[in-house]
Amino acid sequence: MCGIVGYVGNDKAINILLKGLSALEYRGYDSAGVSIKVNNGINTVKTKGRIMDLASLIIEEQIDLSGNIGIGHTRWATHGIPSTLNAHPHYTDSVSVVHNGIIENYRELEEFLKKKNIYKKTDTDTEIIALLIDMFLKKFKPKEAFEKAVAKLEGSFSIAAIFKETDTIMLAKKDSPLVIGIGRHATYTASDISALIDHTNKFIFLEDGDIAFIDKENIKILDHSRKSIKREIKTIDWSMESAKKGGYKHFMIKEIAEEAEAVRNTIQSRIDANGNIYLNDEINMDESFLKNIDGITIVACGTSYYAGFSAKTVLEKFTEVPVNVEIASEFRYSEPIFSKHNLFIVISQSGETADTKESLKFAKSKRIKTISIVNVKESAIARMADTCIYTLAGPEISVASTKAFVSQLSVLYMLAFYIGKLKGKKIDKELSMLLKLPGIMEKTFKMTNDRIKTVAEKYHPYKNFLYIGRGLMYPIALEGALKLKEISYIHAEGYPAGEMKHGPIALIDENTPSVIISPDKEPFYSKTLSNAEEIKARSGKIIMLSDKNSDMVDDFIELEEIEYDFSPFIYVIPLQLLAYYIALYLGYDIDQPRNLAKSVTVE
Ligand code: F6R
Repeated sequence: MCGIVGYVGNDKAINILLKGLSALEYRGYDSAGVSIKVNNGINTVKTKGRIMDLASLIIEEQIDLSGNIGIGHTRWATHGIPSTLNAHPHYTDSVSVVHNGIIENYRELEEFLKKKNIYKKTDTDTEIIALLIDMFLKKFKPKEAFEKAVAKLEGSFSIAAIFKETDTIMLAKKDSPLVIGIGRHATYTASDISALIDHTNKFIFLEDGDIAFIDKENIKILDHSRKSIKREIKTIDWSMESAKKGGYKHFMIKEIAEEAEAVRNTIQSRIDANGNIYLNDEINMDESFLKNIDGITIVACGTSYYAGFSAKTVLEKFTEVPVNVEIASEFRYSEPIFSKHNLFIVISQSGETADTKESLKFAKSKRIKTISIVNVKESAIARMADTCIYTLAGPEISVASTKAFVSQLSVLYMLAFYIGKLKGKKIDKELSMLLKLPGIMEKTFKMTNDRIKTVAEKYHPYKNFLYIGRGLMYPIALEGALKLKEISYIHAEGYPAGEMKHGPIALIDENTPSVIISPDKEPFYSKTLSNAEEIKARSGKIIMLSDKNSDMVDDFIELEEIEYDFSPFIYVIPLQLLAYYIALYLGYDIDQPRNLAKSVTVE
């Protein structure tokens, strides 16, 4: 999704903006631009395409961008096609604006401006903000003009604006993230801390409704009632190193290779081999409430949803209450019936996903106890839930989520064991298994990486794939199919294997390979082999992931034998690798697949 960077200080703003925008590339975008304040006004350069294209254009056009105050943007089109015209910043002679989010009342505002003979030139909602500020600047000083314009906006937004008349960058935030970075004689802003972690580790996270005025020495924040407010300065310990590729060709493969470590980091300070789980402080809920919950609702999107779905079985087994796993974009408009003592869990890597956030708001409005499982520190969802259990996966840069998934799963398992223990269940065996997992995951990566490369080479020309599994492997089949479509643009369907004969079997022929995911666990293994028979009888090719081979399959991927409940953690790894290597053979932009964004902050 869109990204914002802003700088005010003593250095040349353009270098900092381009570097910051490059760090935000992973979020997905289609155009980029910068505005810099110079002696006689504001200069803007923008283009459809990549940051590299923007940098070349800047050299070509030889426009003066030597100033120390500026804003930059990567756009992911919502209103209007990806084009240079629609790229941000949007500007007038007096002000230049970048914006993430959606201005929901932009049509009304457009009509309002038309009546004053002010017309927009682009297809965007953002231009309206620049035009509104400009209109108010005719009567008011910049700060007042900015406040008045922001007051007219409805929807979600993070905004940064620079002005011809002042050296202050003005910011506004509602339902879309915006941070201020504090440097020495310099102040930064960005939609995402990864744009700034090279410059500072001190951040202020603006709250919804805030307006802020930043210059190189001062930060002034007004809350939603426009009262001056001090927001806490937080120190964030993410290193730039962990946000770099470290010798790997793509972030995705680096992040798959880091999965064992991500799970290790997430569990190691929270459990021990003596059956202890140290989650009390993080969960911060009465033990009696947790012992008496009568239902769990999990809400999330995409891969995070599949993490919830994968953990459902183990959660139900240990908490002994029904677990409903819901897709956030559906849940937020449904009329859910919560049980009396429901526990509501949202899962989100980015912590900013609009649908998940709205679902959380809804649950909170019903006074349901809420827990968020989030990777990005201090993100909106992390702060909004009653309590947050962070996945300690480190920054996940590739758009396709991998290490976040296994980390989310590990938190959900710990939660299941924690509540199970409160209810008197023995969990020592499970905890020692959880502690052994990172080692088994490391081994799985090593065992399957080269083998999957060979399999991917053979199968990358196929246009359709079916992924099937039973029990715990059904959600893993869904996740495997999602990964393949996301980065290789191949049509892939995940299905419960037993459902095959009710429809998807019609797809099977020699051109539609099936990926069968089936650890040797009865009755699933033998039943899934019957599905394999049915596929073979229709000349379908079979790739099988299991700890037990079968002569029926064309390509066998051998996995470690593991306690069945823990199999999702290792079976997902070769599926992520399969998607990765197929996309690699097809020559696609793996870390930034077309049409996708890392954090989906709009509906
Ligand atoms: C899949 C993927 C998406 C996200 C989904 C939710 O690889 O990345 O499906 O999982 O957009 O995002 P978060 O977890 O940030 O809420």
